[in-house]
Amino acid sequence: MKVRLRAAVKADLPEILGINDCVQSHPWTENQIEEELERPETFKLVAVDPLEKIVGYLLAREGPDSAELLMIGVLSIAMRQGVGKRLIRGLLTHLKQRLDVFLEVSSENKGAVSFYEHLGFSTHLIRRGYYRDGSDALCMKLKLANPQ
Ligand SMILES: CC(C)(COP(=O)(O)OP(=O)(O)OC[C@H]1O[C@@H](n2cnc3c(N)ncnc32)[C@H](O)[C@@H]1OP(=O)(O)O)[C@@H](O)C(=O)NCCC(=O)NCCS
Repeated sequence: MKVRLRAAVKADLPEILGINDCVQSHPWTENQIEEELERPETFKLVAVDPLEKIVGYLLAREGPDSAELLMIGVLSIAMRQGVGKRLIRGLLTHLKQRLDVFLEVSSENKGAVSFYEHLGFSTHLIRRGYYRDGSDALCMKLKLANPQ
């Protein structure tokens, strides 16, 4: 699917929230997303189609030693067309491939786990019963940084 990546801004909140509410198994609240959009240290990206409609978003935090992928979501009708991969690549380009990327995902979210594995993430820790529904959290890591 033909998309363009751009930095997310506060005005994108309604569209991002719409995708979040439709596709996330553990959706964030409006306040949580708004706070991330306002936080200067959060890396925020959206993928827009040729009509400038938002079809995907990514939120991540960049720390001194590593980065954390907080959330990624793609509109259902735009899934499996490379949008998620573009967003992750956008994050990796921003990080200049310098930092390892960490994330947590429910073991029940098989599609997302396959997606992350496809992109080279691997599970380094399992948190049993971490989510409210009793599912385990897989702590996954994409190793990019070169050891000194
Ligand atoms: C996970 C998600 C972001 C993937 O985005 P996407 O744009 O559909 O993914 P891509 O098209 O870039 O997929 C790249 C590759 O990942 C793998 N993949 C993606 N989704 C998959 C799925 N549901 N099942 C199995 N493999 C999958 C495939 O190998 C795919 O390549 P292919 O389509 O050529 O086979 C999207 O499905 C989504 O928004 N899911 C709901 C929200 C969510 O669970 N987010 C993660 C937790 S925060």
